[in-house]
Amino acid sequence: MLLPRRELTKLYLDASPHLSRASQPLSQPPKIKPRQPRCHKQVAKRLLEFIPPILPGSVIHDNACGTGPMTEAIMGTGVKDITIFATDMVPQVTEQLAKTSAEKGWLVKAEVMPSEALAFPDGTFAHSITNLGIMVMEGASVAAKHIRRTIKDGDLTVLSIWDKPLPVQVVSAAHPGGFNDKNLRAVLESAGFKPETIKLERKYAVLEVKDLCLWASAVWSFLGYPATGWTAEDEEKWDGVIGTMVDWLENYEGYKKLDSGVVAFTMPAYVAITNK
Ligand SMILES: C[S@@+](CC[C@H](N)C(=O)[O-])C[C@H]1O[C@@H](n2cnc3c(N)ncnc32)[C@H](O)[C@@H]1O
Repeated sequence: MLLPRRELTKLYLDASPHLSRASQPLSQPPKIKPRQPRCHKQVAKRLLEFIPPILPGSVIHDNACGTGPMTEAIMGTGVKDITIFATDMVPQVTEQLAKTSAEKGWLVKAEVMPSEALAFPDGTFAHSITNLGIMVMEGASVAAKHIRRTIKDGDLTVLSIWDKPLPVQVVSAAHPGGFNDKNLRAVLESAGFKPETIKLERKYAVLEVKDLCLWASAVWSFLGYPATGWTAEDEEKWDGVIGTMVDWLENYEGYKKLDSGVVAFTMPAYVAITNK
C-alpha cells in the first residue's frame, strides 16, 4: 500500500541525495533537510523567460513555494519593489524561505497555507506562479480555482510540471495516474480559464547526480516507502531494487555521464501561462 499523496509530498521533497540507508532506522520514514534542487531553479528561470517582464511594484504569489527557487528567480531579475507572498503546506520549507529572505533583504512573506484554501482576498496578485507544484496537490482543481480568484483581472498565472518526472518513472508504480500536460490544461479549464488563453511550452532542466546508487536509494526511500513501514523482506530485496533502478537510469534517454563522473539527466517540463 502506498502513502497518500499529501504524505508522499511531505516525505518526497525531491528525493535529496543526502540520505543514507544505513543512517535511517528502516521502520521510520527518512528525515529530510529542506533544500533547493538546482533543476527546480532552472525551470523557475526558464519560466520567467516565457512570460512578459515582471513590472516594478508587482505583488506576486509563489504558490507551493518549497524552499523558494521561484522567489529567488524573481528576486534575481533585479526588478524593484517586488513583494512576494510565498505559501506552502510544509512549515520547514516556509521557515527556510523566511530565513533566506530575511538574510537577503527581500520583501517576502512566507507562510504555511494549503493551496486549496488560499486566505488572500480576490484579485490580490499581478502574477500567481506555481512552479512544479500543482501535480502533487491533492486538490489540484480547487487550487486552480483559488489561483484564478486571487489574480487581478487580466493578470497572469503560470504553472509548470515535469513531463514524466524522472524519479516517478523510475519508481513508476509509486505514483498512480501521473499528471501530464493534458491534466494541466484540464485543471486550468475547470477553474474557468478560457482554453484559447492557455499557452503551453516545453522547457528543459538538467539534474546532476554525483552518486547514482545513493540517489536511487533516496528516491526509493521516499517513493517506495510502504504505508505499513519497511519489512525485513524489503531490506533483503533492497540491493536488487536499487540495481534495477540504476540499470533503468543508465538507459534513460536524457542520461549523460560527464567527464567529472557526475551523471546529468535532461528532464523536460511543461510551462502553462494563462490569464484571467
Ligand atoms: C516539487 S515541490 C516544488 C517546490 C517549489 N515550487 C520549487 O520550485 O522547488 C512541491 C511543493 O508543493 C508543496 N505542496 C504540495 N501540495 C500542496 C498543497 N496542497 N498546498 C500547498 N503546498 C503544497 C510541497 O510541500 C512542496 O514544497
